[in-house]
Amino acid sequence: MRIAIIGYGKMGKLVESLATREGWDVGPRLDLADNREGSGITLSSMSGVDVAVDFSQPDAVMANIQAGARAGVHMVVGTTGWGAHLDRARQLVLDSGIGLVHGSNFSVGMNLFFEIAAEAARIVGKVPQYDAFLSEAHHRAKKDAPSGTALNLLELVRPHLPGREPGIAVTRAGHIPGIHVLGFDSEADTITLQHSARNRQGLAEGAILAARWIAGRQGFYDFRAVFREIMGF
Ligand SMILES: NC(=O)c1ccc[n+]([C@@H]2O[C@H](COP(=O)([O-])OP(=O)(O)OC[C@H]3O[C@@H](n4cnc5c(N)ncnc54)[C@H](OP(=O)(O)O)[C@@H]3O)[C@@H](O)[C@H]2O)c1
Repeated sequence: MRIAIIGYGKMGKLVESLATREGWDVGPRLDLADNREGSGITLSSMSGVDVAVDFSQPDAVMANIQAGARAGVHMVVGTTGWGAHLDRARQLVLDSGIGLVHGSNFSVGMNLFFEIAAEAARIVGKVPQYDAFLSEAHHRAKKDAPSGTALNLLELVRPHLPGREPGIAVTRAGHIPGIHVLGFDSEADTITLQHSARNRQGLAEGAILAARWIAGRQGFYDFRAVFREIMGF
């Protein structure tokens, strides 16, 4: 199996080292200079590649997907902050016959947190005296805000809390790997659920899990659904 890396930054390098450890061949590795407007993703550069994993930057994603679709390469897109283009991306993928998994958060722990958050909102949503709140904190280099993960949490709790939709408080500082909080507050007390990433290892592991799953499959998938299928939820 061969994996191509699109965006050879912090996540791209971590995916490379985990993939190598699991016996994948790795390459090509494309950074901005090699891939303006998706120019590095071609039939010839992707020949022999089973899956291209994109951890680049939000404004690069659509060009990368377009080029990936043209080159016929399956993709895992971990880059966040391009949600406004999701419908167009789905169409490109379905028209081309490639397979693509995207996700705001590939960590196993966060995907468990998604399950817990949806269930908590379902339960607390039945009790009108509780308001919900969301917050997230990340390192100062993170470009999108609120995080894609926080937006996913909002989507999960929204149906259960009509008229009580939470806002999202955002912190960008230092080197925080990622903290997400979902809380419920009443006059009498506060219930708080928190996920704190210790490092980026779990994110890269999930991306490799998705890469193995999508190789040879067609269609457009959210990692949460893929994770649920893999785990048998
Ligand atoms: N879904 C998840 O689980 C998850 C987890 C962690 C991070 N993320 C997201 O993944 C993205 C990358 O995160 P990171 O921490 O790895 O960032 P990073 O260290 O800044 O790396 C991003 C890399 O992408 C490169 N790049 C920019 N435009 C490109 C293009 N058109 N083609 C190829 N490469 C390009 C950059 O190259 P230059 O340095 O040359 O500009 C840089 O090396 C962000 O959107 C982040 O929010 C998602």
